Amino acid sequence: MASSKTITVEVDDVSYTDDVEPRLLLVQYLRERLGKTGTLIGCDTTNCGACTVHLDGVSVKSCTMFAVQADGHRVTTIEGMATNGKLAPLQVAFHQCHALQCGFCTPGMIMQSASLLKENPHPSEEEIRDGLEGNLCRCTGYQNIVAAVKSVADGVEYGGSGVSASIDSASDETETAGVS
Ligand code: FES
Ligand code: FES
Repeated sequence: MASSKTITVEVDDVSYTDDVEPRLLLVQYLRERLGKTGTLIGCDTTNCGACTVHLDGVSVKSCTMFAVQADGHRVTTIEGMATNGKLAPLQVAFHQCHALQCGFCTPGMIMQSASLLKENPHPSEEEIRDGLEGNLCRCTGYQNIVAAVKSVADGVEYGGSGVSASIDSASDETETAGVS
């Protein structure tokens, strides 16, 4: 790897230093080098949003940038959304609102939704749809996706309703859905 470059990137609160080829996409680095397979590749051409992550807190499509461009930056993937084993409210809401079918779009949808709510904590349904327009759901389950995001914006709490908000239950569901 004669032309490799050394990068240091903080991903999900862990610092990684690696030699990468300049042409390596960030999504490839996350999936193939770091094993962050929750970040998915649906198109590789900036259309679907399945690869959405946060770069310094701002959502980006990780197939649209090179790993070297993340040098010195902080990346959060869907796998970094939970805190101490507790799913983030958006993750719980997607589960509870049945906002997924095959689940392939789900990680990107959640990352984009988190970014949307950070910018606008109380979006209207129309604003949610606008904010998610760069993320495609091939199963066309948009109604429940919007409902999940709106429920978080409206402060709906799902605790104690019989569905465990644990990493294990989420990964079971994800595996069942064939997402990896
Ligand atoms: Fe990046 Fe589709 S894989 S937008
Ligand atoms: Fe299948 Fe969205 S749930 S692509």
